[in-house]
This record gives sequence, structure tokens and C-alpha cells, in this order.
Amino acid sequence: MKFTLVSLLALCISTVTFAQNPTDAGVASTSPPLAAVVSRGSEYTIRWAVTDQTATFIDAINLMKGVATALDIIIPNILANGSVPVSDLSYNWTIPAELTPGADYALRFVGNNSGTSYTPFFSIQ
Ligand SMILES: *[C@@H]1O[C@H](CO)[C@@H](O)[C@H](O)[C@H]1NC(C)=O
Ligand SMILES: *[C@@H]1O[C@H](CO)[C@@H](O)[C@H](O)[C@H]1NC(C)=O
Ligand SMILES: *[C@@H]1O[C@H](CO)[C@@H](O)[C@H](O)[C@H]1NC(C)=O
Repeated sequence: MKFTLVSLLALCISTVTFAQNPTDAGVASTSPPLAAVVSRGSEYTIRWAVTDQTATFIDAINLMKGVATALDIIIPNILANGSVPVSDLSYNWTIPAELTPGADYALRFVGNNSGTSYTPFFSIQ
């Protein structure tokens, strides 16, 4: 019971924080999920949901690697043809074959509102 109340409270706080966060890109990634394993050289479909109906474009998707407090940008923008409309809800990424394998990769969406949203950590092998 105590756990449930604490969880509920935590959920309420994070929901409120999320809704008021002006630095969010207006999207929430749905794929890759946490700890997904994707293969170098293959095509992978990145997916997101719209969390802010006023969001229009994703201007860049950065490939990042490291620990949450100190992520390095490995590829500044994986978008081959520039901005994609938020309403596309997905993007087919050809994962470069030359990337260093690792389980500490994440993607950062940069909205045209300059806000950012992150995927969870996933693995490139
Ligand atoms: C980028 O544009 C080229 C030329 O129109 C197209 O062949 C390619 O599929 C596009 N790439 C992506 C990831 O949309
Ligand atoms: C992305 O890849 C999927 C599966 O191969 C394909 O059905 C879809 O048409 C592709 N989307 C784009 C925008 O190329
Ligand atoms: C985002 O893109 C839309 C459509 O091009 C544009 O109207 C809007 O001004 C842009 N927002 C920002 C903050 O650049």
C-alpha cells in the first residue's frame, strides 16, 4: 500500500513536470525501447508518440553514448534529408556499420522548439 501511494505520487509529480517542461521536443520515443539490441549496418525504425500537439518538426536526432550525466555526441544528426515532420511518427535509420559496439547508446530528438527528448539507453552490436 505504501509502495502504491509512493508510486502514484511519483507518477503525478513526473507527469506534472513533464507537461510543464518547456525544453521537451514535444515527442516521446517508443522505439528503441530500453536495452533494445540493434545491429550495425541494418535499417532500424525509430518511433515516437506526439506529446505536444503544437510540435511541428524534429530538426535533428543526435546519436549519443556514455553515462546519463556525461553523454558524448557520436553523430550530430542521423537525419539523412534534414528535418522530419513530427507527424511522421517514425524514421528509418540505417545504422552506420563502423560504429563502436556498446550498450550505452541513446538518441536525442531536437524539436524545432529547441526542446529535446531522449530515448532510453539501447545497445548497438
Ligand atoms: C533521403 O532522400 C533520398 C533521395 O530522395 C532517398 O533516396 C532516401 O531514401 C532518403 N533517406 C531517408 C532516410 O529518408
Ligand atoms: C521504413 O521501413 C519500413 C520497413 O522496411 C517500410 O515499410 C517503410 O515504408 C519505410 N518508411 C519509409 C519512410 O521509408
Ligand atoms: C517550427 O516550424 C514551423 C513550420 O515550419 C514554423 O512555423 C515555426 O515557426 C517553427 N518554430 C520555431 C520555434 O522555429
